[in-house]
Amino acid sequence: MTRKECLRCFFLKIIIGLILSLIPLAITNDFIDSFEEESLTDDVLYGMEPEDGDETKWYLKTKDNYLNEFLRPYKYMRVCYFANWAAKRRSEISRVVPEDIDPHLCTHINFAFAKVGEDLSVKPYEEDDPAGWTGGPGLYQRITALRTNNSDLKIMLSIGGWTHASKGFNEVSKDDASIEKFVQNAITYLRKYEFDGFDIDWEYPGATDRQAENHTKKGFTKLVTKLREEFEKEAYEKDKPRLLLSAAVGAANERIDAGYEIDIICQHFDFINVMSYDYHGSWDGVTGHNSPLYGRKNEPEKDRLWNINSSIHIWIERGCPREMLNVGISAYGRSYSLFSENQTHEIGMSKASAAEAGPYTMEPGVLAYYEVCEILNKDKQLKIYWHEEHDVPYAYRPGLWIGFDNIQSFVNKVNYVKRMQLGGVIVWSLDMDDKTGNVCNQGPYPVLNTLKSELTKPESVTTKSYTTISKYPRGFWSKKYGRRRNLSLKLNSQFKTFFTLTILCILILFYP
Ligand SMILES: *[C@@H]1O[C@H](CO)[C@@H](O)[C@H](O)[C@H]1NC(C)=O
Ligand SMILES: *[C@@H]1O[C@H](CO)[C@@H](O)[C@H](O)[C@H]1NC(C)=O
Ligand SMILES: *[C@@H]1O[C@H](CO)[C@@H](O)[C@H](O)[C@H]1NC(C)=O
Ligand SMILES: *[C@@H]1O[C@H](CO)[C@@H](O)[C@H](O)[C@H]1NC(C)=O
Ligand SMILES: *[C@@H]1O[C@H](CO)[C@@H](O)[C@H](O)[C@H]1NC(C)=O
Repeated sequence: MTRKECLRCFFLKIIIGLILSLIPLAITNDFIDSFEEESLTDDVLYGMEPEDGDETKWYLKTKDNYLNEFLRPYKYMRVCYFANWAAKRRSEISRVVPEDIDPHLCTHINFAFAKVGEDLSVKPYEEDDPAGWTGGPGLYQRITALRTNNSDLKIMLSIGGWTHASKGFNEVSKDDASIEKFVQNAITYLRKYEFDGFDIDWEYPGATDRQAENHTKKGFTKLVTKLREEFEKEAYEKDKPRLLLSAAVGAANERIDAGYEIDIICQHFDFINVMSYDYHGSWDGVTGHNSPLYGRKNEPEKDRLWNINSSIHIWIERGCPREMLNVGISAYGRSYSLFSENQTHEIGMSKASAAEAGPYTMEPGVLAYYEVCEILNKDKQLKIYWHEEHDVPYAYRPGLWIGFDNIQSFVNKVNYVKRMQLGGVIVWSLDMDDKTGNVCNQGPYPVLNTLKSELTKPESVTTKSYTTISKYPRGFWSKKYGRRRNLSLKLNSQFKTFFTLTILCILILFYP
């Protein structure tokens, strides 16, 4: 062979090598194209299943790692509600302003609340939310500033709340034109004040006792569908991170039946905050726990489904992916004055009404976590009991009954979240925790710190087979939203195989 011929065959080999190397690339790209976003909601989100219904044993069905590793920067969510009225409390123990909040305690902070304006817009509840009294920054700006010390922290705006009820939401969800107008107003408002997302706290769609009109169950579905669609569109057009979308939803089966088309709405939310507290309170007229983890035998028929476990099962059974569900944790208890002549410490004791308000939160029948600590420290007659079936503590002395949560019951509830492979927790509310740490003597923010340490510690769930699933590249062609995401392809195992094959082809060709 002459020198010239050899050079020619050298180039020929390079060209053939390149062509061959395109084949695996083409196959791989096909594979990426076929991995559409829609498929995530089905197989992926239903990733974990209890083995033969035994909730202590779990196995991974499919692609679960995709969800954990790529859709969330953390494993479990800790969504903390911040009630804006806490900033106006008088005492150092109870007043919480944004600067008091450790930006690493929660993964999301929901500012509660904004309201629906008459012109189908989002409006602040307090004048000093958007701008301070003396021209300084408002509460919105002060709370979003927490992100400077934790760039992973998401600050969302919650709209609605218990006192808001269905006012405004009725009008907003009435027809397509109203929905469209409200959605655009919401986007403008959220962007103006630099929130990361929107949390709908409508209590509750479909609830006639909460002034909801007949169209609201379907209207709620339409509203959230449009919100998600427009959030996607806006993010794409403006090239910004998409606004997150969540909702605080009812836990009682009646609320769920009346208000939610669960299988549809869950496709549009990023996560769902189940308000799994306020199951019992002074309105019952008999003693009962605010937030029992499980039901108990001999419970009256109507109360059977009123516990965290039952609510979560209902949401899952009606078609909500379990990884989207956040369990409501109450950083407060509910207290009763007892008037029965021959009373005992037991649940279901009649002649019970709202006990005297706490000295800081001033709401009859409600005690913040630190107010429970205080009363237990002061009133030596109060005896603490543990309800084995409900898995929560309560306290009693003649005349007073308090159902509350303590560190042990928070840990039990977190273990439930892990065992059930749920999304995480929500806390109502951040400002009811012991901010200073001086009342409960458990350090600052003992509730939030317990939730954090329990939810970030290495997995304790027994898993049968934690199969390592191939790491899908982060960016992929999404047919649904018609955009190419960041295509920084990490080498997955399939890629590696094709790459090795290509090198082999080239080597064979070059072998003299
Ligand atoms: C961020 O952390 C620094 C140092 O701990 C602190 O001085 C500052 O106030 C923090 N900023 C915010 C917005 O929390
Ligand atoms: C709502 O539905 C109930 C029961 O179906 C009906 O009695 C009532 O008239 C309806 N209200 C309106 C405003 O349509
Ligand atoms: C939790 O709820 C499910 C469904 O309602 C039920 O089958 C299960 O027994 C409950 N677990 C406990 C410990 O009560
Ligand atoms: C006191 O207990 C007795 C026996 O358990 C019961 O019959 C009676 O109704 C109770 N009285 C009140 C006021 O609850
Ligand atoms: C794409 O992803 C890579 C690696 O994850 C990251 O370093 C880069 O900043 C991303 N680019 C854009 C435009 O998001």
